[in-house]
Amino acid sequence: MKRVFLFFLIIAGFNSAFSQSVETPSWAKETKEQKAKRLEWWRHDRFGMFIHWGIYALPARHEWVKHNERISNENYQKYFDNFDPDLYNPAEWAKKAKDAGMKYAVLTTKHHDGFCLWDSKYTDYKATNTSCGKDLIKPFVDAFRAEGIRVGFYYSLIDWHHPHFPYDRIHPNRPDDANELAKANEKRDIKIYQQYMKDQLTEILSNYGQIDELFLDFSYPGENGKGHKDWDSENLIKLIRSLQPQIIIDDRADLKNTTWGWDYVTPEQSIPKEWPSENGVRLPWEVCHTFSGSWGYYRDEHTWKSVHQLLSILIESVSKGGNLLLNVGPTARGTFDDRANDRLDGIAKWMKFHSRSIYGCTQAPDEYKVPEKCLLTYNPETKRLYLHLLEWTVPSLPGYADKIKYIQFLNDASEIRYSVTDNDVILTLPEQRPNVEIPVIELFLK
Ligand code: GLC
Repeated sequence: MKRVFLFFLIIAGFNSAFSQSVETPSWAKETKEQKAKRLEWWRHDRFGMFIHWGIYALPARHEWVKHNERISNENYQKYFDNFDPDLYNPAEWAKKAKDAGMKYAVLTTKHHDGFCLWDSKYTDYKATNTSCGKDLIKPFVDAFRAEGIRVGFYYSLIDWHHPHFPYDRIHPNRPDDANELAKANEKRDIKIYQQYMKDQLTEILSNYGQIDELFLDFSYPGENGKGHKDWDSENLIKLIRSLQPQIIIDDRADLKNTTWGWDYVTPEQSIPKEWPSENGVRLPWEVCHTFSGSWGYYRDEHTWKSVHQLLSILIESVSKGGNLLLNVGPTARGTFDDRANDRLDGIAKWMKFHSRSIYGCTQAPDEYKVPEKCLLTYNPETKRLYLHLLEWTVPSLPGYADKIKYIQFLNDASEIRYSVTDNDVILTLPEQRPNVEIPVIELFLK
């Protein structure tokens, strides 16, 4: 009897957890079609550049250095005092992004350390007060737009500099003793910090024209953490939508149990096993990746991904219906370092001939089985399939035969002849593989 009651309680609890999903406020009402329209460019473009840049580029050992080394405000000040990106020329960044085939770029306007790249009225902790003395966002948006690249902003919800941001379990300067932490927080008023975020978001979303993506980062609810109540997320989203109605917003403001508090999901440094979905509905998603293990410039981090790995990540994301936001961490002089340029150049070389298998593409319909060591993307408009050969082996395509009109390599549009056995397509590939990082075979469907 007791057990039955317990079971009932668990189920009831479960239900109530789900039913707390907040009703759509009137300002957030949007039909599925309207949302699809808003996300159309983003779903098509697939590939963006993430840029993590701030005074953490000076220590050059991770953008979380203040947290990792528990650095006090006083000791962190030297990075502010010595910030002087004399070689900053975002036209060079934009050119690199454009050549690599990136269609949008998302810049960290403020990261967790609280340093702001623009001339915010609400803080002194900003680029204009460093030796560089200027707003770094304006030249960035101008340069990227001049290359036809859309502009997005990253804004950290977390702020390890603001005097009213309450200490929590990840704050670098938190007292370790729980009682002391609570006591120190008595002097911190999160309402003041909430207003600060609203004021700053109003600035960056009013002063730089149309902003296409907003990456709010991030929530960690639970004991000594922070979530939507701390950020006042509902009102943040309301404000953001009122300033930039078309903007696409990530899912890190802890409003995942609503349909209106986020637009897409954001796996990080991984590839989902399959297209992420909820209750059988496939979700828009964008994965972000670094070249190495760090987002901010990290001089002594040497585990850099190869061009082949990076391209595989891009292709695999598209093959599961997602986007890739690939990160560069510029140096404190304001340039991309050699390793980043080398990877971007490699990607550019491939994209020049293969972007057709990326833009406008998505997961192939289920009837097309993916051969081993291959990745498959599909363009539903042109009805073409793109078979990416991760290794130079001859794949056979099971059950494809009566669906195929023509087959060619994508890099040079040279015909690929094939034979058919039991409706399977057997390709006749040349002995010499095309001189490209990942060969792509374009299949024209009937
Ligand atoms: C994480 C990290 C952060 C990085 C971000 C990128 O949340 O805190 O440093 O900016 O991921 O997605």
